[in-house]
Amino acid sequence: MGKDYLKVRVPATSANLGAGFDVFGIALENPADIIEVEKSDKTTITVSGRDSQFVPVDPKKNTAGIVASLLDKPVKINIQRGIPLSSGLGSSAAPAAGVAFALNEMFSLGLSKEELVRIAAQGEKAASGAAHADNVAPAIYGGFVIVHKDRIISLYPENIGIVAVHPEIIVSTRAARAILPRKLTLADISFNTGNAASMVVGMMKSDIKLIGESMENRVIEEVRSKLIKGYRQVKKSALDSGASGVTISGSGPTMIAVCSMNERENIAKAMKQAFSDNHIRSEAFITTIGNGAKIIES
Ligand code: HSE
Repeated sequence: MGKDYLKVRVPATSANLGAGFDVFGIALENPADIIEVEKSDKTTITVSGRDSQFVPVDPKKNTAGIVASLLDKPVKINIQRGIPLSSGLGSSAAPAAGVAFALNEMFSLGLSKEELVRIAAQGEKAASGAAHADNVAPAIYGGFVIVHKDRIISLYPENIGIVAVHPEIIVSTRAARAILPRKLTLADISFNTGNAASMVVGMMKSDIKLIGESMENRVIEEVRSKLIKGYRQVKKSALDSGASGVTISGSGPTMIAVCSMNERENIAKAMKQAFSDNHIRSEAFITTIGNGAKIIES
């Protein structure tokens, strides 16, 4: 039997991991959004928490409201935001994924995880202009996901230290996509393919060194790094402090480092210092690869 009320926790996510542009994504243990859904005769949205004043409450303009409409299930949605907005940490994907997941449970829709990803990606399309699923998929599956063609493959590496440092810089996904080149050279394709392949093996083996060393995309990172003041110093500071790799999280501006669990604090401090040396305030999330959306109250 379905339920009248559900509260779910949906994690932040980091897309691309360098080489896997629009293909790879991971769920982070924190930060997360908390989403409450209650049966109603029409869809309404309330938003509280971090950056809530900037989130549209019109269900036609909110990723979560669009998902409710696609599933034709009117509900009261309350979003308690913990994921910073426009950060490259899947802030528009989380509510879409959370509501798709919650409505499937609430109305016993029997949709598979793959179908939920497809629907949530449609919700996200409204925000970014493109239905790429590399944030909504890890938000639903957890772990590391490969989204390719109509297939989603998930892996669950363990004890991977992650430091995500979010600088106070505004980067819109739409703008960060618009500046990308439309063509790559053969050498760049070969480089990225090699990194993507070794990233998958790194995730299969929970091999922090291999994951970090594979986390580089020659073309996209180079172009997008220009949108992040202090990018080079922040990257260097993380590598000098022991990170095995650093890249831009999704379309940025958050930068994400991979390291062993006990190096995270030091690396976070160094990355924050490097942003600060560039007169940019930042916030560090010390985390790991975590679970997907889950019910926390019903
Ligand atoms: N793969 C997408 C991009 C993620 O890099 O544009 C956006 O969050």
